[in-house]
Amino acid sequence: MSATKTEQEPNRRDFLYLATGAMGAVGAAAVAWPFVDQMNPSASTRALASIEVDVSALEQGQAITVQWRGKPVFIRNRTEQEVEDARAVELSDLKDPIARNENIDSTADASDLNRSAGEGKENWIVMIGSCTHLGCVPVGLAGDFGGWFCPCHGSHYDTAGRIRRGPAPANLFIPVFEFTSDTSIRIG
Ligand code: FES
Repeated sequence: MSATKTEQEPNRRDFLYLATGAMGAVGAAAVAWPFVDQMNPSASTRALASIEVDVSALEQGQAITVQWRGKPVFIRNRTEQEVEDARAVELSDLKDPIARNENIDSTADASDLNRSAGEGKENWIVMIGSCTHLGCVPVGLAGDFGGWFCPCHGSHYDTAGRIRRGPAPANLFIPVFEFTSDTSIRIG
């Protein structure tokens, strides 16, 4: 085989390299499609992004936990006493002074009203049930402040879900939600 022929006609080893290269290109294209497709979620995926919760059976002093995007969400119909207790707390006594409420300004203070479902619905509180320390699920109606208690490392939250004692750095997070009627809450 002359040098000239080697340059012009690929031998068997060259062909194998070429074939592998072509396969690689096809493989890359096949892998790229699912990524693109994931950026266009189907209608069913979008529906899962929000849930509608019927709270008509929840009397004052009762709570439920629902699952939303794989996380527990606490919905509590607070008693007047619980609201009063939360309102009596000076903002300067709070470890985390920010409301952590996605429905209002991100810099809003952690007053009880800002943590609640708002004017006229102050008794309702909706929060992600995940301790802001390391993500354990706090227990309701427990702890030194009558709100929620995380037994993992001892974080105490008050009746507005604000961190008051323990290692958790922030108040329980409040997701996007709204009352779609007097008895129904859409989360997400
Ligand atoms: S995870 Fe809640 S206190 Fe550590």
